[in-house]
Amino acid sequence: MQTPKVLFICLGNICRSPTAEAVFKARAAAAALDVHVESAGTSGWHVGEPPDPRSVEAGQARGYSFAGQASRKVIRADFGLFDHILAMDMKNVAALKEICPESYLARIKLFLDYAPHAKTREVPDPYYGGGDGFARVLDLIEQASDGLIAALKQ
Ligand code: 4NP
Repeated sequence: MQTPKVLFICLGNICRSPTAEAVFKARAAAAALDVHVESAGTSGWHVGEPPDPRSVEAGQARGYSFAGQASRKVIRADFGLFDHILAMDMKNVAALKEICPESYLARIKLFLDYAPHAKTREVPDPYYGGGDGFARVLDLIEQASDGLIAALKQ
């Protein structure tokens, strides 16, 4: 089987999708799943910046590494390269669909489609919220990561 390629998407690529990248990489490795993982933003507002320190602090407290991550903006070529393009919220999905070539639209999904028991379909944007928003993001992302790993192992 070819190594599957997963691209996590949020707005700024400094909070939610870098967290998804860090969590999913760690859990996939623990599950001995060979997978290529990146993340990107639908905006270019923070291009080149490392993940938000609040995301890093919350993630590191659970043992996740954000090493080597820097924000980038999603580009059209990504849609042909990645098998699974997983967005954190519906606004991200809409922004992706605007630039995605027709033939690749089926690759775009909500990440929480892989967390069917979660009470929400979207990972809430923690950027302007309080501190516990980052832990909530982690809780949801951990659930969806395990669901995605199970799906990719089938
Ligand atoms: P993210 O969070 O999409 O999870 O990376 C945000 C980061 C930055 C902004 C909004 C959301 N911003 O408005 O700059």
